[in-house]
Amino acid sequence: MQLDDLKDKVVVVTGGNSGMGRAMAVGFAAQGARVVVGDRAVEPEPFNNAAIVYHQCDVSKPQDVQELVGVATSRFGRLDVLVNNAGINGPLMPLAELPDEAIDAVLGVNLKGTLYGLKYGLQAMVGQGAGVIINIASVQGLRPIYAGASIYSASKAAVVSLTRSAAHEYGQYGIRVIGVAPGPIDTPMLRAADATMSIVNSVPLHRIGTPQELANAVLWLASDAASYVSGCVLTVDGAFLAA
Ligand SMILES: NC(=O)c1ccc[n+]([C@@H]2O[C@H](COP(=O)([O-])OP(=O)(O)OC[C@H]3O[C@@H](n4cnc5c(N)ncnc54)[C@H](O)[C@@H]3O)[C@@H](O)[C@H]2O)c1
Repeated sequence: MQLDDLKDKVVVVTGGNSGMGRAMAVGFAAQGARVVVGDRAVEPEPFNNAAIVYHQCDVSKPQDVQELVGVATSRFGRLDVLVNNAGINGPLMPLAELPDEAIDAVLGVNLKGTLYGLKYGLQAMVGQGAGVIINIASVQGLRPIYAGASIYSASKAAVVSLTRSAAHEYGQYGIRVIGVAPGPIDTPMLRAADATMSIVNSVPLHRIGTPQELANAVLWLASDAASYVSGCVLTVDGAFLAA
C-alpha cells in the first residue's frame, strides 16, 4: 500500500510499544512519515528506525499527554495525525463486583487518555487548519458482547461518543476525527484475554486479524484518500459484529 501524502507527515501514536500501535508506527514510518511513539513502557522495544522517536508517557496523566504532543510540535513544528491507541482491558467479572481501582484504571487510560489526546491534539491542530485524529475504540464499544466486560465496553463506548463530539465541533477547522473499532486482533492484549484464541470461531472470516491489517485501515483513514471521512466508526473485525 502506497499513500504518498503521508510522506513527511508528523504522526503521534499512543500505546505504540506493542501490538497494533507498534504496527501503526512502523507503517506510518514506511510511508515516509515522522513518528513520535508515546507509551508507558519505561524500557521500550527498540524500533531501530530513525523516523520513529520514543517518548515515555502515561496517557491517563494530562501533563504527560500535553508533553507528548509538545515533543511532536517542538521537534517537527506541527502535528498532522494523532492516533489515540493506548488502552487496557478491564477484569472479566460481574459489574456489581468490580473493584473501584479497576474502574478508575480502565476509565483513566481508555476514556481520559483519549480525552486528553483529543484536547491537546486539537489544540495543536486548530491553528494549522488541518489534522486527523483517530481513536481506537472496540467492537465492544458498539455492542457489549461479553458478559463481565462492562467497564471496558463502557470506556470504548465513550471513545465512540468523544469521536463524534470532536468531529462535530472541530470539522470547521478542517480537522477529521474518526473511530476505529477493531474486532479480535492478534496482539499481547488479545492473547492475555483469550490464550487459546477460541474467539476465532465467532469470526465469519474464520481468522484473527493481524496488527498490520488494523494498521492498514488506520493509515488509509489518516491519508488524503479518506479526505471526506469523519465522525464515523470503522469496524475492522472480519464481520465479527455482523454475525
Ligand atoms: N487486540 C484486540 O483484539 C483489540 C480489540 C479491540 C480493541 N483493541 C484496542 O486496541 C488498542 C491497542 O491494543 P493492543 O491489542 O495493541 O494491546 P497491547 O496490550 O498489545 O498494546 C497496548 C499498548 O498500550 C500501552 N499502554 C497501556 N496503558 C498505557 C498508558 N496508560 N499510557 C501509555 N501507554 C499505555 C501498553 O504499554 C502497550 O504498549 C487498545 O486501545 C485496545 O483496547 C484491541
